[in-house]
Amino acid sequence: MSRFSGKVALITGAASAVEGELMGFGGRSAWRMLREGGRVVIADIADERGEKAVTQMRDAGLDAAYLHLDVTSESDWSAAVGNTVSRFGRLDILVNVPGTSDRGSIIDTDTDTWQGVMDVSNRGMFLGARSVAPAMRDSGGGAIVNVASMAARYGSEYGAAYSASRSAIIAFGGSAAVQFAPMGIRVNSVLPGWTHTPFTDQIFNDADASAMRINRTPLKRWGQPEEIAAGILFLCSDDASFITGTELVIDGGVTAALQ
Ligand SMILES: NC(=O)c1ccc[n+]([C@@H]2O[C@H](COP(=O)([O-])OP(=O)(O)OC[C@H]3O[C@@H](n4cnc5c(N)ncnc54)[C@H](O)[C@@H]3O)[C@@H](O)[C@H]2O)c1
Repeated sequence: MSRFSGKVALITGAASAVEGELMGFGGRSAWRMLREGGRVVIADIADERGEKAVTQMRDAGLDAAYLHLDVTSESDWSAAVGNTVSRFGRLDILVNVPGTSDRGSIIDTDTDTWQGVMDVSNRGMFLGARSVAPAMRDSGGGAIVNVASMAARYGSEYGAAYSASRSAIIAFGGSAAVQFAPMGIRVNSVLPGWTHTPFTDQIFNDADASAMRINRTPLKRWGQPEEIAAGILFLCSDDASFITGTELVIDGGVTAALQ
């Protein structure tokens, strides 16, 4: 398969791509894109894990690189895009995975926690889109996929900052799609449901918390990161060439059951 032949992708929050360990969306997306002919830059703040993943990829004969990138840092973004283009000659795809969550109620949430969640989700998506667009335009167009969450679609007893920030990713994607269309850049969001990754490992291993989530999911199981990566890669690929400014929900039916 060579859906991504000739393409260069920057995947943020993808340090989980270590084979033999629990992988997240970014990790699974990176391996699959490489196996389908792409060249991939993994970017994260978890440098040791990211370097380990890239060593495995190179040992497998795949063309990957690791870069330190805190998505809230303007200078990190500009260095990451510059390094990607100087190493690979172009940039076609951006997948943004990072997110952090607030666990308390609104009353119990301090402003630093609120702002921290917003910064990773929303400052990250803004800086990312603004940083990659000129390089994608110079490469003849591209695709941006931001990972949001099904939590954008409903109220909850915890995580109000998380839900609000995930909702903003979808709204921002609409504006970015309109503004970047003349450059041939498509922008879409993926809304995962409960999926077993490093982000949710603690909840997955808590029997009661896990059972509650399985019960609320019509397909009666946790999602697998491969299933979210499949949607991310579809939106990144030419199979989605007429899809922009929209979102793909991959949640085993949770939000359908709420409607
Ligand atoms: N797993 C789920 O059930 C689920 C469901 C819906 C949405 N999500 C969203 O998916 C994302 C998490 O992905 P995952 O579940 O694959 O877990 P993951 O732990 O593999 O991914 C999160 C990655 O983001 C990185 N990161 C955190 N802050 C960063 C920053 N400032 N700059 C760069 N990288 C940073 C982490 O180091 C980690 O590698 C989050 O955005 C989360 O909101 C997850």
